Amino acid sequence: MINKVSMIPSEQFNQDVSIILVTVDQLKKRSFAFSDKELKNALLDLYDSKLFKGDHGETFPVSLNKRSFLLVALGDKKDITSTSIKIIIKKALSCPNFKDATNIELVCHNKDESTIKNAIEGVLIGSYSWDKYKSKTEDKKKISQRNIYIVSPKNKVFDSHAIICESTNFTRDLVNDNADIVTSTFLEKTILSLIKDHKNVTVEILNKKELKAKGLNLLLGVNQGSNKEPKLIIVKYKGSTNKDKYTALVGKGITFDSGGLNLKPTGSIETMREDMGGAGAVIGALRNTLLLKLNKNIIFAVGIAENAIGSSAQKPGDVVVGYSKKSVEIANTDAEGRLVLADAISYIVKNYEPERLINIATLTGACVIALGYDYSGLISNDDILAKKLLKASSDTDDRAWHLPNYPELKDAVKSNIADIKNLGFPKSVAGALTAAEFLRQFVGETKWAHLDIAGTAFVEGTSRMYFGHGATGAGVRLLTNYLQNI
Ligand code: BES
Ligand code: MN
Ligand code: ZN
Repeated sequence: MINKVSMIPSEQFNQDVSIILVTVDQLKKRSFAFSDKELKNALLDLYDSKLFKGDHGETFPVSLNKRSFLLVALGDKKDITSTSIKIIIKKALSCPNFKDATNIELVCHNKDESTIKNAIEGVLIGSYSWDKYKSKTEDKKKISQRNIYIVSPKNKVFDSHAIICESTNFTRDLVNDNADIVTSTFLEKTILSLIKDHKNVTVEILNKKELKAKGLNLLLGVNQGSNKEPKLIIVKYKGSTNKDKYTALVGKGITFDSGGLNLKPTGSIETMREDMGGAGAVIGALRNTLLLKLNKNIIFAVGIAENAIGSSAQKPGDVVVGYSKKSVEIANTDAEGRLVLADAISYIVKNYEPERLINIATLTGACVIALGYDYSGLISNDDILAKKLLKASSDTDDRAWHLPNYPELKDAVKSNIADIKNLGFPKSVAGALTAAEFLRQFVGETKWAHLDIAGTAFVEGTSRMYFGHGATGAGVRLLTNYLQNI
């Protein structure tokens, strides 16, 4: 089912149901964000008779003059967060009393810009579910689209915000689908269809042949056991006519990470179609950039390979010389993301000379151990860039946490047989930091930041916050907000 949001200037209460968000403070002060007298009296009656207390998450269906309402309480105003609003809206929209409602009005407890943005996210990101492969139930056949009307003052930001949420869901579809569907060829087609008809965009695509000719052997090595084409796809978007320098986004696109000959065990391998989540986030940010016509100069790049096993697969202990000419000891074939990124980064730094480069990747299990599922790891060689990304993160609720990079980490990636190795300290100690340090050694003097979304890109089990099971689109909102504010 697809949800569509639109804004209406004032409440109508003429849809199948109207969802009304209230805080306990509003109940106490007996003053609300809507003006309908009848609803106000009904709400206060329920409050006075203690049937509806205003506790966080409390809901109450009400019928008045053939109009249906769902009262939803947010609790104390001071306890409301941008996350909790989205969770509440997600829950309200799945209320079983109104499962047949196709037109829904939503009245928030206040109408400031951040509340309305969170409402849009709660509706569009909160209601996403991956059910392509589920048999259609009777319910699903009945309702294919739901329209949500959010009562809000007119504001252009809200149209853009809906686009940003739709791109987040677009990325989620790419990450959720089977690895043998979302191949390098599929991602190439996806990118080409996004940029089609856009005049300020050029694209460079390196396939196996070009990658070989140019010496991107690290990317090629990762793909060596696969029957699919490796690719480096680079989209150059010129949104500013000024001589503004380019910002490059580089995404890890491992369409499936089996671990290679260092094969992943049961329990770790099952969700590894998510390993192109970084590339997915870059493609989501590209979609936003095109639809929002951002007036910035941006390079969107994705390095795509499949880390498969087979007799031709790359071997642990191999030494490979990549695009930068540094020799790399392949100490573990499962540390493949940094290899693909190292070649992609060196190629872009050398041939496109961006002012700054941000890479995004489902890079390390160690990052999941360090930060869990709700915060991406952020590592940078430039404090100003890191600060701006953290601001974008907190403004979008696409969470990230700053982890350190420091000179002594160099020792962790020293090799006895090559210039550098793709593995850090024994036992994966500080594994998120040593993986980042490996990447840093390929950026040269370029301002650089790295987002590790291994924990945040994909929800296992049932649901987390306002996300359902599966891909979250981690990074799409953060990167888009960052690009908007360069
Ligand atoms: N794609 C994985 C990281 C990952 C783990 C992503 C969990 C999503 C969820 C990455 O390629 C990997 O396998 N990393 C290894 C590195 C190790 C061999 C140094 C890891 O984290 O175990
Ligand atoms: Mn791996
Ligand atoms: Zn991987």
